[in-house]
Amino acid sequence: MTTTIHTEALTKTYDGHTVVDGLDLDVKAGEVFGLLGPNGAGKTTTILMLLGLVEPTSGEMEVLGLDPRRRPLDVKGKVGFLPDAVGFYDNLTGRQNLRFTARLNGVADAETHIGGLLEQVGLTEAADQLAGEYSRGMKQRLGLADALVKSPLILMLDEPTTAIDPEGVATMLDLIRRLAAEEDVTILLSSHLLQQVQAVCDRVAIFVRGRVVVSGAPHELAADKKGTTRVEFRFDTDDETARGRLEKSATVDEVTHGRVPGSWVATLEVGFLPDTVSSLVSDGARITGIHRVDEDLDAIYRRYFESAESETAI
Ligand SMILES: Nc1ncnc2c1ncn2[C@@H]1O[C@H](COP(=O)(O)OP(=O)(O)OP(=O)(O)O)[C@@H](O)[C@H]1O
Ligand SMILES: [Mg+2]
Repeated sequence: MTTTIHTEALTKTYDGHTVVDGLDLDVKAGEVFGLLGPNGAGKTTTILMLLGLVEPTSGEMEVLGLDPRRRPLDVKGKVGFLPDAVGFYDNLTGRQNLRFTARLNGVADAETHIGGLLEQVGLTEAADQLAGEYSRGMKQRLGLADALVKSPLILMLDEPTTAIDPEGVATMLDLIRRLAAEEDVTILLSSHLLQQVQAVCDRVAIFVRGRVVVSGAPHELAADKKGTTRVEFRFDTDDETARGRLEKSATVDEVTHGRVPGSWVATLEVGFLPDTVSSLVSDGARITGIHRVDEDLDAIYRRYFESAESETAI
């Protein structure tokens, strides 16, 4: 797989305030990559730098092998962008707005393509209504269609689902996955809606105050910084003996209730699972089930966010 977005020590400072701080990013072709973080973390600024719309203070970047600072038009020709506040010509219909974008980008025979895009984003019925009469969610859908008019190699989506209803979100996430899987479109999206990102992203980077505190596949992030993981043990009896045995095991950090009676969730060092199991068994425990409990991204995010906050608060 080739790298389509690459940054090294990318930094942006506004009035002495560093909002993107030494960002190293590698996004591969056909990957769905999520920039995650709270308000003001630097997600939009990062996207705007990659599009050549904001000048970095320092650092390197390449998009499809091009430097957006030197070749902004070439980059824009290949990258579809859905801004967080999408704007259209209010006195044109949705379809006419897409035609306008097609003409700007020199897309030939656009009519069928546009019809298909309107269908994909669920706007066929509203296609000939004025964009000025669209709801915010409809504008966001039109924004996605608009970003796709030029059949881009990369899509950058800034908070693509914030205004969209749950059914629309499912459609949009399906479309994002399909574009990546079937058409090899690389997708960089920013969001603070963690559940959605978890469902759709191959990898994520969690931003806190302009710095990436952790990145990886959502399931990789479920094992925390210290290399611990959470495992649910089920026992054939519903009593505290099992818990006591688990707590006694030297390799176990913490024990909490599992989801069903007789089950306990232990936090332990990755790699110590076999030792833990054999010490439980030799102690007389009858184990009926073992499985890993993945944290959802929300919990992971809060954990990293809190630890990064406490580190920077000193
Ligand atoms: N043009 C600008 N001039 C000065 N400061 C700016 C400018 N643009 C952004 N900032 C600051 O940079 C920081 C990062 O902003 P950015 O919009 O990149 O965050 P974000 O992660 O996209 O946040 P959100 O989730 O709210 O969209 C913020 O503190 C913001 O105030
Ligand atoms: Mg933003």
